[in-house]
Amino acid sequence: MSKNFSVKPQGKFDGIYLISVDGAEFHGTRNQVPGTAVYGERLFKLGENEEYREWNPNRSKLCAYFRKNGKECHIKEGMSVLYLGAANGTTVSHVSDIVGKNGRVYSIEFSARSLRELVQRLASRPDVIPILADATRPAQYRSLIPEQVDVIYQDVAQPEQSKLLVDNIQTFLKPGGYFYIAIKSRSIDVSVEPEIIFQKERTILEKAGFTILDMRDIAPFSEDHVMIVGKIP
Ligand SMILES: C[S@@+](CC[C@H](N)C(=O)[O-])C[C@H]1O[C@@H](n2cnc3c(N)ncnc32)[C@H](O)[C@@H]1O
Repeated sequence: MSKNFSVKPQGKFDGIYLISVDGAEFHGTRNQVPGTAVYGERLFKLGENEEYREWNPNRSKLCAYFRKNGKECHIKEGMSVLYLGAANGTTVSHVSDIVGKNGRVYSIEFSARSLRELVQRLASRPDVIPILADATRPAQYRSLIPEQVDVIYQDVAQPEQSKLLVDNIQTFLKPGGYFYIAIKSRSIDVSVEPEIIFQKERTILEKAGFTILDMRDIAPFSEDHVMIVGKIP
């Protein structure tokens, strides 16, 4: 546990903080489970029940997006988020900190091993709902998500990523809701220039009628990746 540090909110981004230690500044979220780290991140305690967790941009593309000056921050306290490609819960844990106990993070993952690890790491977070399912088949988990969500976050690193997102948006996202999609060009086609792939995926989302608010390269934290943020009508 580090001792000499300061914490301030990151401008208008509710639930996201800037932590300064010895001249270095990095992002963090307020720990919903004080005293517990999820993936070996540093913890910064300010008071009895007030603690912040370092958010590592090399481990989380959402943090990389903010580190690369991304301004589209639409995940807020009390919201419901559908998270596709939850893996073992690294980014899910920070989204869980942001939405807090009154929010929900429906965490879809098709690898049983990863989901088991997520459950072990995040069992004490009441807002995280782990779901073992294939994100290409939203009908499989429709009955497990009893509401329309505010935000869909997708990081599955698979071909057909945008189509998969469109299908989930049509099934689960509230009118006026927001989406984030991390696109890895090498998961789609290694033989094509990344920029061409990113534009193609963007066009799929625009043709579906969605507005793209930002498309941002998140290197060097994740090479050959962009984060696209958008909104539906
Ligand atoms: C790059 S990792 C996600 C990392 C995670 N978002 C984080 O930041 O902590 C991609 C994950 O998506 C999962 N995945 C890939 N295709 C999927 C699908 N069709 N349905 C559900 N999960 C999928 C993989 O098993 C893997 O755990």
